[in-house]
Amino acid sequence: MGLTATPKSLPPKWFYDTRGSELFEQITRLPEYYPTRAEREILAARAAEIASVTGAHTLVELGSGSSEKTRLLLDALRDGGTLSQIVVLDVSESALREASAALGEEYPDTTVNGVVGDFTEHLGLLPGEPARLVVFLGGTIGNLLPAERRTFLASIRDTLKPGEWLLLGTDLVKDEATVVAAYDDAAGVTAEFNKNVLHVLNRELDADFDVDAFDHVALWDAKNEWIEMRLRSTKAQRARIAALDMEVDFAEGEELRTEISAKFRQSGVAAELAAAGFALSQWWTDEQGRFALSLAKA
Ligand code: AVJ
Repeated sequence: MGLTATPKSLPPKWFYDTRGSELFEQITRLPEYYPTRAEREILAARAAEIASVTGAHTLVELGSGSSEKTRLLLDALRDGGTLSQIVVLDVSESALREASAALGEEYPDTTVNGVVGDFTEHLGLLPGEPARLVVFLGGTIGNLLPAERRTFLASIRDTLKPGEWLLLGTDLVKDEATVVAAYDDAAGVTAEFNKNVLHVLNRELDADFDVDAFDHVALWDAKNEWIEMRLRSTKAQRARIAALDMEVDFAEGEELRTEISAKFRQSGVAAELAAAGFALSQWWTDEQGRFALSLAKA
């Protein structure tokens, strides 16, 4: 349990209750949060090519959220005449329900399966008729630590049959100011998203965190090349987590790490995919070189 560790940490999946998923959707529209727009630009330019290269029958989306960008791929696969099934996996049941219902209406000739689950644990449950194209967009792989990424990529590779595909979105290393602004926006939406995790713990684990006694912190770790979001306790305080029969003490100024979001270089992504047994087929970036999509073959 990260709350008893030093320093304290939480797994990022706790962000995504209904409110957290809504706040993340707002983040994607902020002027400072470039990853969503950059990734959409690449998908718009490359969807037809991805559809013709993969000829996928099933599109499997991990951590799909609203699946908005995925429609570019679905349209291309449908127009290419290969799409028959859509599988979406997300930790947020509300986001998943909305996404599956909308996809069912927009792609009436496909079967839509929604799977509530954690992409680090439930890959073995993924249905789908081959050839499958697993898409993991948004740069969410950056929320995993390097060792977790190794396990995760290897388990996707194990789930796929040879010749099936992975499309992976990764945010790229760039100047510190641009990255920090993306995680500490002027309107304070990211701060609210970060603090919402304490509301989730209060509700789900019957805890009593004083949400207003924590400040949002976003900082760039230059050595690890990742952004860290933290919540800094503004006073000495104790939180009780009734469901775990546990108490957590915070010193004034003590920080709780709520997320890492790693930024990548082409060489690193290529090496991680190769180590998991994938063959990198294409690497594309947006015009400004902020974000990349990798298409890899199992
Ligand atoms: C949804 C995981 C891709 O890491 O950039 C946005 C989540 N955190 N702002 C990211 C997030 C703070 C986002 N992902």
